[in-house]
Amino acid sequence: MSSRLILVTGGLGFIGKHFVASCLDQGDYVINVDRVNYAADRVVKSAFKEKPNYRFMELDVCDLEYLPECDIIVNFAAESHVDNAIADNYKFCRSNIIGVQHLLELVRNKQEYERPRFVQISSDEVYGDCLNGKFTENDLLRPSNPYSATKASADMLVQSWSRTYKIPFNIIRPSNNYGAHQYPEKLIPKSSWRMKRGLPALMHGDGSYVRSWLHAEDTVAAIATVLEAGEIDAIYNVSGDLHLRNVEVLRKIAAILEVPEAEAWMPVTDRSGQDVRYSIDDQRIRALGWRPKRDFDSELKTIIHEIDFQRFI
Ligand SMILES: NC(=O)c1ccc[n+]([C@@H]2O[C@H](COP(=O)([O-])OP(=O)(O)OC[C@H]3O[C@@H](n4cnc5c(N)ncnc54)[C@H](O)[C@@H]3O)[C@@H](O)[C@H]2O)c1
Repeated sequence: MSSRLILVTGGLGFIGKHFVASCLDQGDYVINVDRVNYAADRVVKSAFKEKPNYRFMELDVCDLEYLPECDIIVNFAAESHVDNAIADNYKFCRSNIIGVQHLLELVRNKQEYERPRFVQISSDEVYGDCLNGKFTENDLLRPSNPYSATKASADMLVQSWSRTYKIPFNIIRPSNNYGAHQYPEKLIPKSSWRMKRGLPALMHGDGSYVRSWLHAEDTVAAIATVLEAGEIDAIYNVSGDLHLRNVEVLRKIAAILEVPEAEAWMPVTDRSGQDVRYSIDDQRIRALGWRPKRDFDSELKTIIHEIDFQRFI
């Protein structure tokens, strides 16, 4: 396969860094635009710089003044934590909506024949919660909180810019990602860190909320599949095979760390606007040959044992 020139945004974040690593390994050229917020990985920031096929721009996407030459843009850059969005949503509107509008405008300013394919990394959360069944890509977007509202807004911008200005796009909507070296604000790393320090994990409500878990490497494989075999201007849901209640995730972490269940978690005030259950249908991407490959239980052990606090500030 020939080498591609890929502009990645947010490539120091949890999912983006797995994608950048995979592209660099297979010989693609990568330009990574990342503003290095609190969730950016400081260890991979240094490691990637050693690669000859890598260039880094420490910049907010909203401040990107020109679009470097590229064949594909994969936009991971976003504020990604729902609780932060509930506390203060300004940064979410700026990065997740204005950032996308700004990137789309940079693409539009290219001649039509020079416009890169725009791949927007969206989320299963844009559909809101799903009490029964599964959402398909054709379902209405009914986001429940400021984070998912900004992600849904970005999806609207991408589709409308594509139609008006002829920008080739894909929107990819993965479910909850887990994997190595995620910033410890999300359920798995945060709860593991607390239990390792002898503190109970903090459980929203009664722990009955259901999430579908997908390994970040499986997400990266899904993006690669869409780039290779996906239809242009199509949306793809990407789900893991595993739906778990939050309390079940905490129970698995406690078992690995040998913390008695009575000491492993405590209930805390529920998240306002909490989504009860996420579930998406991903037949469209499975028809292209993609399947999730990682096993949650065995990956969880590695994730917990490899927690590395030097990666983040
Ligand atoms: N983590 C998940 O479970 C999950 C699930 C579905 C979809 N997503 C989406 O996938 C994408 C990546 O998520 P993640 O978990 O890797 O996020 P993350 O918070 O770990 O990383 C985000 C990265 O983007 C950078 N960034 C943020 N705003 C920026 C800006 N304005 N300009 C440049 N860089 C900026 C940060 O510095 C960071 O490196 C996001 O768009 C998120 O909405 C995440």
